[in-house]
Amino acid sequence: MTRGTSLLPLSGLAVEVPDVVAGSGCVLQTTAGRDLVDFESGVWSANLGHGHPAVTAALVKQAVAVMHVGYRWSHPIVMRARARLCEVAGAPDGQAVLLASGSEAVELGLRIAASVTGRDGVLRFSGHYLSAYGAAGAPGTGRQVTVEEFDAMGGEERRDALARVGAVVLEPGNASGLVRLPDARQVARVVDEVRAAGGLLVVDEVTTGFGRTGRWFGFQHLDVRPDVVAVGKGAGNGYPVSAVVVTREIANRVECAGLRYAQSHQDDPLGAAVMLAVIEAIEAEGLLSATVDRGAQLTAGLARLAATGQGVRAVRGRGLMCAFDVAPGTAAQAQASLLDSGYLVGANLAHDTIRVYPPLVVTPAQIDGFVSAVRAYLTA
Ligand SMILES: Cc1ncc(COP(=O)(O)O)c(C=O)c1O
Repeated sequence: MTRGTSLLPLSGLAVEVPDVVAGSGCVLQTTAGRDLVDFESGVWSANLGHGHPAVTAALVKQAVAVMHVGYRWSHPIVMRARARLCEVAGAPDGQAVLLASGSEAVELGLRIAASVTGRDGVLRFSGHYLSAYGAAGAPGTGRQVTVEEFDAMGGEERRDALARVGAVVLEPGNASGLVRLPDARQVARVVDEVRAAGGLLVVDEVTTGFGRTGRWFGFQHLDVRPDVVAVGKGAGNGYPVSAVVVTREIANRVECAGLRYAQSHQDDPLGAAVMLAVIEAIEAEGLLSATVDRGAQLTAGLARLAATGQGVRAVRGRGLMCAFDVAPGTAAQAQASLLDSGYLVGANLAHDTIRVYPPLVVTPAQIDGFVSAVRAYLTA
C-alpha cells in the first residue's frame, strides 16, 4: 500500500481521475494542468460552484473571528443561519440545529420522530440512500418497513405496522443517484395515512436541497408539509455543515419529550457562516430560476439525443438533478469518454445510468458543450 492513500479508497468511478488541485465555478484544475467541467458538483454538494467568492469570504472572515465555541454558548451568526434556514424551509416559526454531515442530520431527524411519538418504526421508500450508518443507513434491519411492503399489507397487519411507525421518510428523488422521482399521489396518500395514525413526516433533503431541483427543497414540488427536514451537502457548498429543521409544534414536543443530543460541532459558527452565505448567494444570484432554466436546457438537449435512438434512453430530472441511461454495459465507457472530452459525470454501472448534477451556476455554453460531448460519444 502507498503511504498517503485513503484507508477507504471507495472511488465509485470506473475511470482514473487525475489529481485535482484547484477549482473555480464549474471547472476543476488537475495537476497535469487540465481543466475538467465538474458535472457532479463534488458529491452533489458544490451547488454554487467551486471557490464561490462570497462563500469563501464568509468562511475566511468567520475563521478569523471564531470557528468553534461549543454548543452551550450562543453566537449571533448561528442564530441568523438557523432563522434563515427555517424561513427557506417553509417553517419560519420552527427551530433548527446545525450539525456536520447529512447522515447525522437524517439520523437525528429519525431520533426526534421516535422521541416525540414514542415509536421507533420507520416507513421508507425502497432504493433510497439515507445515511452512512445508524437507523437509516441499514435498511432491512430494525423496525423498518418499505412503502412497497406496507402497500401489500391489509387489515390488521397494516394497522399493526402503522401503530409502530414513528416516521415516514421521504427522499424527494435523488434515489441513490438514479433520479427516480417519487409519485406525488402515492407520497400524499402514504403521508396522510401515517399522519392520521400519529406518525411524522421526515424529509431527507440532503441531496435535493439548496436549489438543486429549482426550488429551495425537493418536497416543495410535492403536496406535503414535513414535520422534520434534514439538510446537508449543498448547505455548505462543500464545507461539512448540515442541519435539522422542525416545525414549531415538533419543537414544543421535543422540549416536552426531554430529548438530549450533543456533538462537538453542533451549532459551530464557522458552519453557520458558510450556510448563511450559501442561502444569501442563492437568493442574490437568482439561482432557483436559473436552475429551472438550465435544467430544462439540459434535459431538452439530452431528450433530443434520445429521440435519435442512438443510445441515450430514459432522460429524467428535476432542475439540475438529472440522469439518463445508456446501452446495457456501456456506462463505464460513456463516463470515460465524457471525461476525455473534459466532463466529470457520475456512472452507476449496475443500472447503466449516467448522472449529471452540475453546479447551479453552470452556464448555457457549458450545458451545450456537454450535450455535444454526449452526441460525439454516441456517434463515435
Ligand atoms: C439522500 C441522501 N441522504 C443522506 C446522505 C448522507 O449524507 P452524508 O454523506 O453527508 O453523510 C446522502 C449522501 O449521499 C444522500 O444522498
